Amino acid sequence: MCGIVGYIGDKQAAPILLDALERLEYRGYDSAGLAVRNDEGIATVVKAKGRLKILYEKVDGGRTLKGHIGIGHTRWATHGEPSEANAHPHISGSSSEDSLVVGVHNGIIENYVELKEKLVKNGYEFYSQTDTEVAVKLVDFYYSKFKSPTKALSKAMMRIRGSYSLAFLFKDHQEQIWTAKKDAPMIIGVTKDEAFIASDVPAILKYTQDIYQIGNCEMACVEAGNVHFYNIDEEEIVKDTEHITWDLDAAERGGYEHFMIKEIHEQPKALKDTYNSLVKDGSINLAKSGLTPDIIKGISEIRIVACGSAWHVGMVAKYVIEDMAKIAVQVDLASEFRYHCPVIKKDTLAIVISQSGETADSLAALREAKSKGVRTLAILNVLGSSISREADHVLYTLAGPEIAVATTKAYSAQMLICYLLSIEFAFVRSEIDSAKYQYYLQQLELLPSSVASILEDKERIQWFASKFSTIHDAFFIGRGIDYAIALEGSLKMKEVSYVHSEAYAAGELKHGTISLIEDGTLLIGILTQNRLFEKTVSNMVECKSRGAYLFAIAAAGHYNIEDIADFTIYMPNIDEHFIGSLAVIPLQLFGYYTSVIRGLDVDKPRNLAKSVTVE
Ligand code: G6P
Repeated sequence: MCGIVGYIGDKQAAPILLDALERLEYRGYDSAGLAVRNDEGIATVVKAKGRLKILYEKVDGGRTLKGHIGIGHTRWATHGEPSEANAHPHISGSSSEDSLVVGVHNGIIENYVELKEKLVKNGYEFYSQTDTEVAVKLVDFYYSKFKSPTKALSKAMMRIRGSYSLAFLFKDHQEQIWTAKKDAPMIIGVTKDEAFIASDVPAILKYTQDIYQIGNCEMACVEAGNVHFYNIDEEEIVKDTEHITWDLDAAERGGYEHFMIKEIHEQPKALKDTYNSLVKDGSINLAKSGLTPDIIKGISEIRIVACGSAWHVGMVAKYVIEDMAKIAVQVDLASEFRYHCPVIKKDTLAIVISQSGETADSLAALREAKSKGVRTLAILNVLGSSISREADHVLYTLAGPEIAVATTKAYSAQMLICYLLSIEFAFVRSEIDSAKYQYYLQQLELLPSSVASILEDKERIQWFASKFSTIHDAFFIGRGIDYAIALEGSLKMKEVSYVHSEAYAAGELKHGTISLIEDGTLLIGILTQNRLFEKTVSNMVECKSRGAYLFAIAAAGHYNIEDIADFTIYMPNIDEHFIGSLAVIPLQLFGYYTSVIRGLDVDKPRNLAKSVTVE
């Protein structure tokens, strides 16, 4: 939530900052702002409420803001409504020109009320409702006292509770951008004559693929062509760069109308790349993560924690792992995990699933699991993210940068890793023999082409979405893995198209929800599991007799479903453990097309942000 960028170098800063912010707009889009210092040393701040394009127009694409150094911000409101006053950058003085400190922030400062009181007692006045203004003025307070950016930032870091990545321009240090970070993302890229800071890789991929990660409670002084890192004790620390293999094309729309549809189409590649990274010469190789057969044999139970779609992946994983590897799996919402005082058995493996690796609740759940002394494994897409640095073992999905707020390709790649874990765990623990092991891997190899074949038929879903684009409600049902897929289908629908939707375990319908079914209500049944097929069909029939319109997603062969369903899509043949990865594709397309037909901003749905770094 919220995106930060910074530039210093031999070019005009404002156009570069705007371009970088555009690539971070998925992190927040209710207001935006820039601070650029000109060659006379005067910093100008321009802010605008609403989408980045309003700011863009206000500064004529950056042309009205001259200067080679600047910081920028795109906001997702936490403290204070979306408004120009609350937009970042924030200033420490009465105007940007006379401010000692100008800053931007991503995260939440939990004790901002207490800090504000202290600052008010010291004569500071506040113009916004944000916690960020408090941070900027706190840094100003310490800077005025100690005249040193490292001292001011370290003092401020010691006083601030919460999460932050911060970037500052100091009036007295005209050729530097200063940053500080704790539990919120921040990367730095340095080229020969320039340097960049950003909340995420796509913002600066155009300029460099070698990035520095700034660690928790660390600071950095960024200069053109140079960066120095310091710990909270103000001691200089040396860091190496990491090479990012994502290329710029992956972060561009590449001819597609939206990132979401582009990313839906990238799923065969994401699946193939992720598979090839972990399967070599016909066997699964988890060596990179450090998960050895001995560790796998010792696992007594698995706890999966995640948020949003990643939690839905956990739900699928539960069904697959329990059936295949016979290990008990509990799936918890990361936001609930630490608040229900989880009882975690010794030898539990806690698995955190997260695309960004920055989701605040998932990070907190990881820490909770670690505090209970259990082994942790993270399944992540973003290299070097906060969760990657704290988990005992990490496996990466090779989905590439995911820009659309609603996840698709990262979700699919996460699911693939869960399948591989399940197969490996089952084999190592002698629940399956090598013939079965090979069979499962062969089935997984079919996934990319099967997904591609469903995508080829996308016009049917487009047509269906146009027919139902004005609906108010949609209900998704299924049992077992199909229920887990229903959860994801329903979320896709509501988050991008704003159609109220609910997912139910089919057997639960009769305990209340069926009272909502009336003439024309859309009911989507997922029917990929042979042994559950007839049961879910019965539930669908019960709804049809109360007027529901039935859309069925069924495994190939179950052609008699057409006797009751009004619209049916068949999935290509694949082992039932993995067929959820196919059934979700029409549901992603259905959500996408409904949103497009309703004229909504599919990549940036209202009120949502891709990376939720606040609780
Ligand atoms: C947001 C995104 C979802 C994502 C969830 C968890 O809500 O819009 O697509 O599933 O966060 O994010 P993570 O980065 O932890 O997977």
